Amino acid sequence: MRHESQANVVNLDQGAVPRHVAIIMDGNGRWARRRHLPRIAGHRKGAQAVRATVQACGEIGIEYLTLFAFSSENWRRPADEVSALMTLFARAIEDELSRLHEHGVRFRVIGDRSRFEPRLQQLISDAEQLTAGNRRLVLTIAANYGGRWDVAQAVNRLLAERARSGIALDAPVDESDLQPFLSLADAPEPDLFIRTGGETRISNFLLWQLAYTELWFTETLWPDFGAADVSAAVASFRSRERRFGRTSEQLRVAGEVESPPLAAQAAGAR
Ligand code: IPE
Ligand code: IPE
Ligand code: MG
Repeated sequence: MRHESQANVVNLDQGAVPRHVAIIMDGNGRWARRRHLPRIAGHRKGAQAVRATVQACGEIGIEYLTLFAFSSENWRRPADEVSALMTLFARAIEDELSRLHEHGVRFRVIGDRSRFEPRLQQLISDAEQLTAGNRRLVLTIAANYGGRWDVAQAVNRLLAERARSGIALDAPVDESDLQPFLSLADAPEPDLFIRTGGETRISNFLLWQLAYTELWFTETLWPDFGAADVSAAVASFRSRERRFGRTSEQLRVAGEVESPPLAAQAAGAR
């Protein structure tokens, strides 16, 4: 982003910045409850925290940011909260799109969007089309997304593709056959996962893609999350040794950290 770097943003010469950060933005409801406000006030404040985080990630050179905004299980919430979340999502796209575009951000949505109202579906595809050529940061919003849904839809698409091209449907499927059909197939796997709000679970987020991601949890509630927290998470990431199954000694001999075993990532290692 073009804004001045803030003092608390990580110094770039301290080691590798994660290329891809994935975040479960949790704690909006508790943030509101602590202030005796309705839950939706927490979601509204949470939407503002997204802006600060996108900016901080852009400033430190993160290339892919994936945010969990609405899970396939969140339909179980009270109808008025679900409908307020949908309204907020649409409004956030309308309000933020030109700024994102101006800053070179590519906007994408993963998840089953067929359940969204046509107007929201249209807003999403227009935003994706407008920003498709941007390269500074890929911002992916996971909406009506579930990790299990993702694997299932990938299997379905793989089988459809096999049927189309005359490959036997019962031919064995290996990891690299399935990988291209998963959401985020064209992004490197997340290097760093962050969950705010104190819960230490995955809640059906990116199940396949998080296989070798470094996990970082914070008690901070999402509406209070900002550049300082991004810095803390990235600093923790930099202190870790990613072994991908190997030993520390092997890594020292190789002189560099190896890529994940499933190296068939389209965006590849740098
Ligand atoms: C995360 O905050 C936002 C969504 C899941 C949409 P929550 O609404 O889950 O907040 P808590 O967990 O109730 O505090
Ligand atoms: C996960 O948060 C989903 C999102 C942040 C969008 P939840 O608040 O829905 O997760 P659980 O229900 O506590 O596992
Ligand atoms: Mg929650």
